[in-house]
Amino acid sequence: MQTDMSIESDANSGSQSSPNSSETNSSAADGSQVVPSPPLTELQPEAGLSTRCVHSGERRQKSEGSITAPIFTASTYTFDSTESLMRFVNGNEQREEYGRYGTPNEKSVEAKLAALEGAEQAILYSSGMAAIVGLLMSKLSSGDEIVFFDQCYHRSREFCTKHLSRFGVVTRQVKTGDFDAMEAAINRNTKMLVSESPTNPHLTAVDLERFAAVGKANEVETLIDATLATPYNIRPVDFGVDYVLHSATKYLGGHNDLMAGVICGRKEQLESVRALRGILGSVNSSHNLYLLERGLKTFELRMQRHNENGQRIAEFLDAHPRVEKVYYPGLKSHPSHEIAASQMRGFGGLITFTIKDADWKQTAQVVDAAQIPRIAPSLGGVESLIEQPLVMSYYHCTPAEREQFGIADNMIRMACGIENAEDLIADLKQALAT
Ligand SMILES: Cc1ncc(COP(=O)(O)O)c(C=O)c1O
Repeated sequence: MQTDMSIESDANSGSQSSPNSSETNSSAADGSQVVPSPPLTELQPEAGLSTRCVHSGERRQKSEGSITAPIFTASTYTFDSTESLMRFVNGNEQREEYGRYGTPNEKSVEAKLAALEGAEQAILYSSGMAAIVGLLMSKLSSGDEIVFFDQCYHRSREFCTKHLSRFGVVTRQVKTGDFDAMEAAINRNTKMLVSESPTNPHLTAVDLERFAAVGKANEVETLIDATLATPYNIRPVDFGVDYVLHSATKYLGGHNDLMAGVICGRKEQLESVRALRGILGSVNSSHNLYLLERGLKTFELRMQRHNENGQRIAEFLDAHPRVEKVYYPGLKSHPSHEIAASQMRGFGGLITFTIKDADWKQTAQVVDAAQIPRIAPSLGGVESLIEQPLVMSYYHCTPAEREQFGIADNMIRMACGIENAEDLIADLKQALAT
């Protein structure tokens, strides 16, 4: 056994493997036997989404025969002896060391998410924003540039323009979907192309095949925030996108009761990302991860209902005389409908719409009159939510900024939950009658 005492005790911090990789009962670099972990539930390659939601990433036999995952509360993990510690630091045993570098609950949920996304690996964070910050901080250095499609979650834009800029990273924003402008903005310092699809809150679907191709042709990595789509509706890695990001706070968790974020991609490209996360410390508690795992078990069922509700309510709003405009990619009237229909399986539960001839107060009256959806930010949970972007996320922006970001005073954003569509429609009908 190699006994290189210069290796620090956190040697595992940058090289944590997924549970799948611990299945190989192979030899370690020094020729000794790797200690195997208990086997994972084996699934057929053609296993359906719900089968993967329920079983992927989980041990076939859990502690004490428990069918649910035990919640590991430990912040640190003990070694029997220095010899056992040396086995670990030399990479001959895959196990836990310290909570900031990984936990059994985290490994299991990461493997489940990677399976849903069709990606080699997933890395969990304490929120969607922590995932964005973690990825960009690990990939960018002073002097680097990113090109960003301009419709996006307000805080993602704010992080790039107000904070990455402090570290000498330049963000070039171009009109969403304008690939010529994107190509023109790329130069030899460009390191990443960034977009959401669909975008928040305008629901514009971006042509992912083209997006990935522009990245490849220019040797620039690509990132898609697919929070609003979820892996039920689209899997950007299938289109050649390098990194897929989700706020797992939304549909993946699905119950408005947790915050988490995830980045999926290729193992090799994610190594430095995982290493930095171990330093940033933006990790989840195991209690939180248990909730995420539990939420994921019903992911496919929930998404079917979110998609159905989104489509039915968007159609209802589109036909309503008080509604001026509806932003929903499942409607033929949406400018990116064709792209969305060609690459997505469904269009999710988020709808943005404007009220005809209404000022901000008259718009607020509609929001206040709705009884089922509750006034709150967020989306993707079982409970429907409603908000007026003007007085929620964009309240502290200047009118000029709001105009630039396409946020109108008479705009409402509704996140359809899994309630019955008829009830939501009846409720909106009475709210729009106020
Ligand atoms: C598209 C999108 N990405 C990222 C985030 C940030 O996620 P979180 O709130 O989990 O930090 C959000 C939050 O609303 C979002 O809508």
